[in-house]
Formats: sequence, C-alpha cells, structure tokens
Amino acid sequence: MAEKRSSFTGKIGFVLAAAGSAVGLGNIWRFPYLAAKYGGGIFLVVYALLAVTFGFALMCAEIAIGRKTGQSAIGAFKQLDKRFSFVGWLAAIVPVIILPYYSVIGGWVSKYLYVFVTGGAADAAKDGYFDTFITQPVEPIGWFLLFLGLTALVVLFGVEKGVEKVSKVMMPVLVILTIFVAIYSMTLPGAMEGVKYYFTPNIKDLSVNTFLAAMGQLFYSMSLAMGIMITYGSYMKKDVRLESSVRQIEIFDTGIAFLAGLMVIPAVFAFSGGDKAALGKGPGLMFVTLPKVFEAMKGGTIVGIVFFVLVLFAALTSSISLMETVVSIVRDKLGWGRKVTCLVVFVGCIILGVPSALGYGSLADITVFGMAFLDFFDFASNSVLMPIVALLTCIFVGYVLKPKVLIEEMEIGGKFTAKKLFTVVIKYIAPIFIVLILISSVLDALGIMKI
Ligand code: TRP
Repeated sequence: MAEKRSSFTGKIGFVLAAAGSAVGLGNIWRFPYLAAKYGGGIFLVVYALLAVTFGFALMCAEIAIGRKTGQSAIGAFKQLDKRFSFVGWLAAIVPVIILPYYSVIGGWVSKYLYVFVTGGAADAAKDGYFDTFITQPVEPIGWFLLFLGLTALVVLFGVEKGVEKVSKVMMPVLVILTIFVAIYSMTLPGAMEGVKYYFTPNIKDLSVNTFLAAMGQLFYSMSLAMGIMITYGSYMKKDVRLESSVRQIEIFDTGIAFLAGLMVIPAVFAFSGGDKAALGKGPGLMFVTLPKVFEAMKGGTIVGIVFFVLVLFAALTSSISLMETVVSIVRDKLGWGRKVTCLVVFVGCIILGVPSALGYGSLADITVFGMAFLDFFDFASNSVLMPIVALLTCIFVGYVLKPKVLIEEMEIGGKFTAKKLFTVVIKYIAPIFIVLILISSVLDALGIMKI
C-alpha cells in the first residue's frame, strides 16, 4: 500500500492503544473462570511466571518485528524471510476463529445488561437462570447477532475512533468499579475460603492443564500469537522505549485480570457453600456469580447496570479491533472494497458463530472432541493454534533472524535491560516448554495419557 503509515503519538498513545486491545473479555470473563477451574493460587503463580518470561519476550519480539518492518504480520514475516510467510498466515487465522465466539460472549453481556436495565436483576441472581438462558433455541442467537451487528456497523462506518474515545474514559472507571466489586465480594459471608483458594498456591492442584490453560490465557489476554502486536508495533515511533512500554501493558492487563478473579472467585465460595464443583462451571461462571453479588449489594441493580455497560464497551473495543484485523487481511489478499468485505466477514462470522451460540442448548448433543462448540473454538485457538504460532515465532526469531536483530531494534528508542532474559526465553525456554505442553495436551486429547 502506498499510504503512509500513521503513527501513535508518543509512548502514552502506544501504551493506551495496545492496552485497549489487550483488556477485554479475556480479563473479566475468561481469566476468572480459568483460575477457578485450574487450581486458584497455583494458576495465579503459573500465570504470573509465564507473563514475566513468555509474555514479556513474545510481546517484545512481536512489537519489534512490527516496528522494524513497518508491516502487519503477513507482510512482516514475508519481508524478513519468505520461507516464514506462512507464520503470518497462521497468525491471521486466529482472529477469524476468535471473533465469532467472542461475539457470542459479547451477546451474553448485552443480554445481562438488558435484563438489569429492565428490572430483572433479581431473576438473574436465581439459580439456573443462566442455564435456562443458554439452552434457549433462539435467544442466544439474537444477542449474538446484536453484538456482532453493532461491531460490524462500527467497522463499516469507520467510527472506531469515536468508540475508542469513549472507552478510554470508561476503562479507568471499569478498573475502579472492579476494585469496588472485588472488595465487596471478599466481605461476603464465606468468601474468605475463596480468597484463600485464590491466593494460596497448592501443588496438589497443579497439572499439565494448568500450564496449558495459563499459557493460552496469556496469549489470548495480551493479544499475542495472532499478529496483532506486530500490527501495533508497525505504528510505533522509533523513539519510543519498547521495553518499558511492554512492561506497562503487561502490568495493566495482568492487574485487571487478577482483580476480576478477586471479584468472581470469593463470591463463588460465598454462594456455593464451598462446593468445589461450582468452580468448574467454565464459560458461564461470571454470569452465574456476579448477579448474585449484585443482588446481595445495596443498590446492586445500578452497580450491575454500570458494570455491564463498562464490560460491554471493553468487549466492543476488542471485537471491533478483531473485526478490523480480519477485514484488513481479507482486503489485502482479495482486494475487495471495504463495504463488501465488511459484509462478507459479517456473514462469515454468523456462520461460524451460530454453532457456538447454540452449543449449550439446541446443539448440546453435538460435541467436538468432547467439547461444546464454543469451548472447542476457544481450545483450538488458545491451546493449539496460538502456541504453534508462538513456537514458530520463537524459532524464527531465535535461530533464523537471530535475537540480536530485534534487540538492536528495541534499543533504538532507549535501553533494553532484559536482553539476556529475552534471548534465553526465545531460544530455549519457550520453544521447549511449548513443545512439551503441546505434546502432552494432544496425548491427553487422544486419551493416550491422562494428565
Ligand atoms: N485480548 C483481548 C481480551 O482480553 C482479546 C483479544 C484477543 C483481542 N485478540 C485480540 C482484542 C485482538 C483485540 C484484538 O479480551
């Protein structure tokens, strides 16, 4: 493209934009249910360890690749080494898988906002409310279409900037409200057991799945291993210090995820009387638990409304950015107009998203590798495809391009203090670890080894 690439103004602009992409349903919805399911405190420890090693190194690498080449994933890999163009393509498939089911969850958030606004907060807090909703034959599709349609309209009319402005104001409010709800959650009777579960690492709860889930979540939450950070890097100015930007994005993203866990997990204990089965609820956990928290709270309906509005915005900015990514890949490849591409992507998402929307209801009898559709798409992207993209990126940077090249790129804008860590993680630790995790999870999926 002949167009000159516009850049972010300075470091703050970059950090805010990247954090805007990173913070979304991954932090608020996905992190708490995984932490609950995969061992609480031990999940937290594994996640934090992976964040400061893998997350840090991979985010540095991706942003540096983007800034060095000034291109998005597909073009960037092609420019650096033709043989590795396919990595860019693999990365490009990830948002195509994520966007449809992300919109299904966005639909759930919209539904809960609607219920709270129309005075149904007390109903939503009742046992079984979520399951009744999710097993309806038509309703989940309606909400999914609404959310996806909203996303498509924003992308179609090119008004992302407006949404982004609003969400920049809302994000700090979301953080404050999350802290408030978390504190309230912890003071519920019986919640202390949950706080303990969340903060005390117990080796007994450690399994290969803890690692796999934590790694997938790390990639997902920080928008890694799908080319997004390469694109962001391509808009980054040369004089911005990369290392500290990455640290800030990481701290921000991880901080919000930890808080969200604190909002949900103690409440699970408070309302289930310590029944461990409640922890394994999966994707529905936040929707089952939070209405109960709001119900117990004075003025909880208002707090709930504000909360779901904020989460809806966080989800929208992410889905918009995901759809933008898909649209621009299709346009670059096929040269279609913007409007036509939007429409085609919209229809494609409907086709891919409907099974996820119905996977717990009308289509509950159909499973893929024992998983409901939504869980399967989630697994395929986060636990299979993204680790593979991350692995290939590490091999490429570590052995073909050489870490030195990216370290030089990172040092243009200022000091890079974690050079050693970066090199060791990219060359040895990450590739070996990812291969081990992938092999054991495949063996597990095939039922050869139980982990
Ligand atoms: N990181 C986002 C979240 O936590 C989800 C996400 C994954 C995303 N890939 C993305 C958002 C690409 C925007 C662009 O919810």
